[in-house]
Amino acid sequence: MYTWKDVDNKNITLRPEYTAPVVRSFIQHNLGANSALQRFYYIGPLFRRERPQKGRQRQFNQFGVEAFGSPYPEQDAEIISVGWKILEDLGLKNSLSLKLNSIGSTNCRNSYRTALKDFIRPNLDLFSTTSQNRFKNNPLRILDSKSESEKSLLKDAPEISNYYSNEDAEHFSELQKYLKKMEIPYDIDTRLVRGLDYYTRTTFEITSDILGAQDAVLGGGRYDKLVETLGGKPTPAVGFAAGIERIIILMQNKGILKNTYTPDIYFACLDSNGLSVALSLSKKLRDAGITVLMNTLRRSIKAQLREANKSGARYAIILGDSEIKNNEIIIKDLKNGTQLKAPQSKIINKFSDLT
Ligand code: HAM
Repeated sequence: MYTWKDVDNKNITLRPEYTAPVVRSFIQHNLGANSALQRFYYIGPLFRRERPQKGRQRQFNQFGVEAFGSPYPEQDAEIISVGWKILEDLGLKNSLSLKLNSIGSTNCRNSYRTALKDFIRPNLDLFSTTSQNRFKNNPLRILDSKSESEKSLLKDAPEISNYYSNEDAEHFSELQKYLKKMEIPYDIDTRLVRGLDYYTRTTFEITSDILGAQDAVLGGGRYDKLVETLGGKPTPAVGFAAGIERIIILMQNKGILKNTYTPDIYFACLDSNGLSVALSLSKKLRDAGITVLMNTLRRSIKAQLREANKSGARYAIILGDSEIKNNEIIIKDLKNGTQLKAPQSKIINKFSDLT
């Protein structure tokens, strides 16, 4: 987290995620009193003091949803299906996989933690300092290790599913039944513990190989104890958050989102006497929802038309000496090269097919 002391010695921390803030708000405004089931969404910037790399910035944006009140697996299934549908609607379905796990309830995790520590302890000095610290503070997160040598040391580690209570097992199997019914494909990943400490039972991530090392587009899970831990009435909850920059990387990679900007019209003004007309016509076009790129370097006609072709614009508008005199413009179709003259007053009508 980004934490520092401000000028008046107040402790300041930049928000690293939204789940805890939503829980804070839920408790502070007693939102649980409004109805037994509450669903929220959010979109905005977050800050984490991590080493930057592809798909990992220190300032990034998430959107997410949180559902408070239901302890049942249908709520987990609904939340997952909302995340899946949004990514599907963005055209990303074929590049994604859903990883699913259950880390059980508190009792299950306590017994499992002991078993995992007993398994790791004899080889602890072969693990990295990070993992050794996790061994003390949050041993389950050692399962998150990306190191090949640590992965092989953990190959025969005990599985959490052997420690589920009957209710944990039933919750997980009902969730899977619902996902199958909704035809949402998933893989069980028994090592998916996730980086945040508040999860109970269901954890999930939607990942894409295209992203490389930082492969999660969306992550979430159930956190039935967090409201209580932060001082509220016991309230089960489940949610997810998705990384907007990672979604953009995927959409660009698949050509759904172009990373170059293509205007509708390139405006070439060939005489500086026409600049005020060019600017006012450009404004009219933009007001009508047409995108216009105008040259502001007073270049030659040749240079401006070369730039018009390079810009990818559909049409060029040319305003030369005689057009200025006659209140006309030349419209050049940049696809087939044909040209025609039109009165300036008809400019919006001429391009109505672009709006
Ligand atoms: P998270 O897995 O930490 O979960 O973040 C969710 C998503 O935010 C990630 O899958 C990733 O797409 C994006 N993200 C995270 N860190 C970065 C970063 N440094 N740069 C770019 N993108 C990033 C949470 O934040 C939980 N609050 C999710 C949740 C909601 N659990 C329950 N409800």
